[in-house]
Amino acid sequence: MPTLNRIRLEAVEDAGGGCLRLVCAPASLIAPMPGQFYMVRGPWEADPLLPRPFSIARFRSFKNGQIQLEFLLRIIGRGTRLLGTARAGSELDVLGPLGIGFEQPPGDSAWMVAGGIGIAPFPALIDAIATPKRKLSLLVGARTEAEIPGFNDFAANLTGGVEIATDDGSAGFAGTVVDLLASRLDRASDQTPSQVYVCGPHAMMEAAAAVCMDAGIPCSVSLEAPMGCGMGTCRGCVIRTFRNTNFTICTEGPVTDANVIWSEQNSQ
Ligand SMILES: Cc1cc2nc3c(=O)[nH]c(=O)nc-3n(C[C@H](O)[C@H](O)[C@H](O)COP(=O)(O)OP(=O)(O)OC[C@H]3O[C@@H](n4cnc5c(N)ncnc54)[C@H](O)[C@@H]3O)c2cc1C
Ligand code: FES
Repeated sequence: MPTLNRIRLEAVEDAGGGCLRLVCAPASLIAPMPGQFYMVRGPWEADPLLPRPFSIARFRSFKNGQIQLEFLLRIIGRGTRLLGTARAGSELDVLGPLGIGFEQPPGDSAWMVAGGIGIAPFPALIDAIATPKRKLSLLVGARTEAEIPGFNDFAANLTGGVEIATDDGSAGFAGTVVDLLASRLDRASDQTPSQVYVCGPHAMMEAAAAVCMDAGIPCSVSLEAPMGCGMGTCRGCVIRTFRNTNFTICTEGPVTDANVIWSEQNSQ
């Protein structure tokens, strides 16, 4: 059951790649599931009126039952710009946890594929699914090296490694992160992951889903759309599936199996 809470910001840190990490003070909250999100409103006046959706990037549970939330933020418009000016001690109104999160992978190997700030939900997912036996890999892409968000603070559990892709070839694989995914799957034919998790721009997720469907690998995507309410009321986040049905991202997602949204046939 989501709750609306006013939480103090403990720190605002540079998270690399032009992103910010907002670390909230511990508070009495319901623990989220990785992949769930919060509607967040910062210390500003009436404009913008509506809160903005952010994935839970990481959370910690304390012995006294308090939960500490962390968000990763990329500034793209007025709301995120204002949030980016918040400082330690500012208060945020935080509604959540909302939506459906990620499930555990079915086997011992999983890959996370992030397009830019799409990396945001993965630290919490990695914390939740890492086991000594499980091989976890992160593939992260951006237009250029300067836009690759930092990952060092959660890389310890990425025993399968981290690979970078840049569209302009300034670091790592030259091409999109979906090209990197396809090339890595070709290379890893005997070690294909039991699950691929994808988060990024819609077109990038559709392309990554097609690659996974072709390879017969289960693929979960964390969908994005501008959101008004986050609770299924405003209908602002509804998209059409390949079956011509409606999918309400805030309540039926944001995480779903890719084959709920896109047809396997379209991938061939
Ligand atoms: C479930 C979910 C989780 C998210 N998690 C994160 C996160 O962890 N970190 C993060 O930085 N961002 C995240 N986002 C995206 C974030 O919510 C948007 O960047 C933010 O709402 C933009 O608000 P704004 O006022 O800055 O921009 P606006 O002024 O509202 O919009 C600027 C431009 O971006 C477009 N836009 C706005 N929101 C979206 C969107 N969600 N998808 C595509 N285009 C959009 C608008 O149409 C407009 O063209 C998430 C979105 C969703 C739906
Ligand atoms: S954001 Fe309002 S219905 Fe999804």
